[in-house]
Amino acid sequence: MKTYSIQSVVLLLAVLTAGCSTSSSTSNGGDYYSSTIQPIFDAKCSSCHGGAKTEAGLNLTSWSTLTKGSSAGEAIIAYNSAHSTLVKMATKLQPAVHPASQPSSVLSESELATITAWIDAGAKGPDGLAPFSGNREFVYVTNQGDATINVIDVEENVVARLVDLTKMGFDAGAKPHHVAVEPDGSFWYATLISAGVILKFNRNNEIVGRASFEVPGLLSMDPSSNRLFVGRSMAAVNPPQRIGMIDRTTMSVEELEVFFPRPHALAVASNGKNVYSASLAENKAISIDIDQEESTFEDIPGPIHTIVDLEVSPDGKIMVGTAQLTGKFFFFDATDQANFPITDVIDVNAAPWHPIFSHDGSKIYVANKMAQTVSIIDVAKKSVEAVVEGNGLAQPHGAAISSDGKWLYISGNNLNAAYVSRHNFGEGTQNPGTVTVIDLKTNKIIKVLEVGLYASGSAGRPSW
Ligand code: HEC
Repeated sequence: MKTYSIQSVVLLLAVLTAGCSTSSSTSNGGDYYSSTIQPIFDAKCSSCHGGAKTEAGLNLTSWSTLTKGSSAGEAIIAYNSAHSTLVKMATKLQPAVHPASQPSSVLSESELATITAWIDAGAKGPDGLAPFSGNREFVYVTNQGDATINVIDVEENVVARLVDLTKMGFDAGAKPHHVAVEPDGSFWYATLISAGVILKFNRNNEIVGRASFEVPGLLSMDPSSNRLFVGRSMAAVNPPQRIGMIDRTTMSVEELEVFFPRPHALAVASNGKNVYSASLAENKAISIDIDQEESTFEDIPGPIHTIVDLEVSPDGKIMVGTAQLTGKFFFFDATDQANFPITDVIDVNAAPWHPIFSHDGSKIYVANKMAQTVSIIDVAKKSVEAVVEGNGLAQPHGAAISSDGKWLYISGNNLNAAYVSRHNFGEGTQNPGTVTVIDLKTNKIIKVLEVGLYASGSAGRPSW
């Protein structure tokens, strides 16, 4: 059975073509990178980065190795020198700018100006293309604290682009919360809680459409139709008791009644027939048959759980739900779609957030926001088979999996400052949001990418 379970929450992975122009990289023609940029690195950096040594795993002897970044993350973000580690190392690193051990080899002002201008023009290589051009797969991570969205390249596991909403007419308090991506990567969508909009972006990260919606929270896409669903933000105390159904072409919104307060959790049935939601305030979940316009409810027993999210298995037979206040993890039988009784309840670590199924449906990964861990759940046994912990899992929130099934991406709010940046670039820069990359063969953390403040939702292209 072809299934279309969509990750309804936090991390979105997507196969998108990076937004970049394919025009020549230079105003003076020729290969600007080789003639002007590489010689600077050769003179000042390559001895330690790709010559005798390759410090930090960063090789600066060519454009292609430079753009792969270090073993910790990207060295540069095309079009954004201000957020590029390489520039921050050379200008802001404390107590001394890099490389402090060899003051003579610090970049001169004119070299720095040349490099920053080149990055801001797209960091184009010898072939005139910006890095991560073409049909790449990306994961998108919204940073609620500084109105930015990181675009992560899934092959190299580095930040490929930074979408800065403050440069697109929104204020720093717009609160981008969650993302969803078209199955073919052609467009992606983000909710801005405080701005009250859902934005539609193209492959080049340009805004091409928008819909108004009060305090939008999670997104859930139905790849079997043109529908995108949207719930209400957790930050909203008394939002309308309706979820939104968006036509992804026109971006028009229809609101569907849920008859309970604070609809937050959201999942689309794998065949697109039903959409599920649940209340943060009451132990109630709903299944809405979209074409029949009929609703059925499931009462969840116990104390107030505050259901954070729902997710449907790739085969559509199982739905799972997470409970913030009780640390419970629910399994529902979703075969019938209209009736979806609870079959099992297990305990996971504190505050399970956004669950995601492995592509084969055999496992579920869920970040436990108050425990700084990720639970790996065996679906057949309905039990926790392993718990991942480690640096980077700082108020872990959302989850996305690369389409090859190799990598799990967990976004971390890090409002608790559990993660400290590997470099000190001065005040206010020490506790960025995180994206912890986990190797799904070994369940080991391989990298912690530093992203914007209060990293929250994330998502990518569904792989099925
Ligand atoms: C004397 C050796 C040396 C030279 C020369 C040197 N580096 Fe480094 N670089 C290091 C070491 C060691 C580290 C790892 C320790 C650290 O991050 O501070 C590092 C780290 C970095 C990082 C951070 C990697 C990451 O992701 O954390 C960047 C970016 C970087 N160097 C860029 C440069 C640039 C650009 C130059 C030339 C202007 C340069 N380096 C010259 C030794 C050097």
